[in-house]
Amino acid sequence: MRLGVCYYPEQWPESIWQADAQRMRELGIEQVRIAEFAWSRMEPSPGQYDWAWLDRAIERLAGAGLKIVMCTPTATPPKWLIDAHPQILPVGADGHTRAFGSRRHYDFSSPEYFEAAGKIARQVAQRYGQHPAVSAWQIDNEFGCHSTVLSYSKHAVTRFRQWLATRYGTIQALNEAWGTVFWSMEYRTFDEIDAPVGTVTEAHPAHRLDYRRFASDEVVRFNRMQVEIVREHSPGRPVVHNFMQLFSEFDHYRVAADLDVAAWDSYPLGGLEEAWFDAPTKARWLRTGHPDYTSFNHDLYRGMSRQPFWVMEQQPGPVNWARWNPAPLPGMVRTWSWEAFAHGAGCVSYFRWRQVPFAQEQMHAGLNTPDNQPDIGAGEARQVASEIAVLPATLEQPHSKVALVFDYQSKWLLDIQPQGIDFNYTRFAFEYYSALRSLGLDVDIVSKEASFDGYRLIVVPSMAIVSDDFVTRLGQSGAQLVFGPRTGSKTDVLSIPSNLPPGPLTALLPLRIWRVESLRPNTALELMYQGKPGTAHHWREFIEVPVEAAVLSTYPDGGAAVIRHSHCFYLGSLFDEATTRAVMRDAARAAGLQVERLDEGVRLARRAGLTFVFNYGDSTYAVPPDATLLFGEAQVGPQQVTVFRPAALGQPGQVKEATAAAAS
Ligand code: GAL
Repeated sequence: MRLGVCYYPEQWPESIWQADAQRMRELGIEQVRIAEFAWSRMEPSPGQYDWAWLDRAIERLAGAGLKIVMCTPTATPPKWLIDAHPQILPVGADGHTRAFGSRRHYDFSSPEYFEAAGKIARQVAQRYGQHPAVSAWQIDNEFGCHSTVLSYSKHAVTRFRQWLATRYGTIQALNEAWGTVFWSMEYRTFDEIDAPVGTVTEAHPAHRLDYRRFASDEVVRFNRMQVEIVREHSPGRPVVHNFMQLFSEFDHYRVAADLDVAAWDSYPLGGLEEAWFDAPTKARWLRTGHPDYTSFNHDLYRGMSRQPFWVMEQQPGPVNWARWNPAPLPGMVRTWSWEAFAHGAGCVSYFRWRQVPFAQEQMHAGLNTPDNQPDIGAGEARQVASEIAVLPATLEQPHSKVALVFDYQSKWLLDIQPQGIDFNYTRFAFEYYSALRSLGLDVDIVSKEASFDGYRLIVVPSMAIVSDDFVTRLGQSGAQLVFGPRTGSKTDVLSIPSNLPPGPLTALLPLRIWRVESLRPNTALELMYQGKPGTAHHWREFIEVPVEAAVLSTYPDGGAAVIRHSHCFYLGSLFDEATTRAVMRDAARAAGLQVERLDEGVRLARRAGLTFVFNYGDSTYAVPPDATLLFGEAQVGPQQVTVFRPAALGQPGQVKEATAAAAS
């Protein structure tokens, strides 16, 4: 566990580099990430490289004992490159070319850019690949930021056609699979197919889904090209990419499969403001962030990272890019940092060392103010550094008995065909996660390809396309299974399965969902679950239930809302928070897991036999009196963190065999 920081020597006078490096060390920072946006300084004109300034910056930083994370600068192609090859620029869905003057102005499918990016990556890797202070590499910066995964350029369309030809083999097969006979959309050759935009009304859903899959594959290809170059010149050093929080426009599992470390950039307040949360929720967590938002990302990226995941950028104060940008409450920078470590992070790196007084991000806080005085975040980082020293140097990674399956393709599919405008896959996955966390459970977020060995409870929030293999592996896992609405509702080409939803899932859950409806906001259906009133929102399924299944909750007209069959729970709608939590509680108990209803905003995380307590709320959490405190108070107040070693068994999330039969 170590602290890092993001630093931009090219943005500051050379005269202060050394002092900056020393002050970083004094604060307890061990690692510094540099150069991800410095292409115009590395190569001011085509083929003319200037490494002298970067050599000196590295010398100062390394001289102070800092490890360096060197970056490939491909998120910011310089002006001369764009002028020489304007086709590098991405094209928006409206057909307009996006302009130079900010960042990420490139098209993943541009052959000119693929070559230019490879060339600069090779130059940097050759120059610094063997430098003793360079300890890791970051590829590019935040793939897809500013809506840049999808481009509708000529290059993209050309490569899409090739991608389709590989996938379908013949144009007849594509026509058959998509059902292009509908509205006379049949194609005679792959070359007749364009990008699915600009159509009079909605483009064909299978066409759109394949375009999303293709665009995701383009990100995988671009990243892999750079990873291979860096590994060639800098073998043995971890290769990292900094993903974004709850971003889903490409398949992160597939990009991460080529990396050593999946890192992500954590901005809890900006994230809350820009996400789907309603106004009261945003107001409630204005200065802390939502208690489950950050950990959802930790648990997701932990699952896809070969080595312990990192937080590459940690919010240190107010940011500049959300609609409103509040300041965190004192204590939150420390809380967020410890939460990352509790969930398995190997490094937490603050963005940025100092607030910069010019350009786009001048209103974004750093650890230091623009006049170089430590801001509140710096003091909290210092405290975290001193607390790290209290814990063992290495801690085993967290492992839970609960898995939540998160699937990028499901997100794309439900974006394309929401059926109700507010059917947001990520939001619903998050609500299930949040319910589990409020019961004191740790959760591993995994892909549908993951091994399910060892899990007692597996939650599939919604997965429209399920394969027979996935269903078989779930069945063989022996775990209790929870499925959300629309699971198994589509084939691989986004059609309705011949046996109706839940399609292949009927092997475990023999339901027949013969009709669905979506519901306007504020249109709730009332129901009862385990004797308590609740409501269903957004969505309702009309389900034929076999006699051997138990209907745990019904709508006012008697239709089934929650069904239990064998070791499966099926939720045919999205429910209010308390009902969702009650279903998860029952499923966890059926799985033999102990649960504890935590106060609002209190969250627990376990790692290596330690329990970490985080308090985002207003109450106080009392650590069990027989526990051994490592640091923090026994009464954990608002914005506080405590770490303790429990005296004995009986912690939430632990298996409690005795309850298994009783609860079911
Ligand atoms: C991230 C990005 C950084 C910086 C930061 C500001 O998305 O990687 O370069 O822009 O946001 O919060």
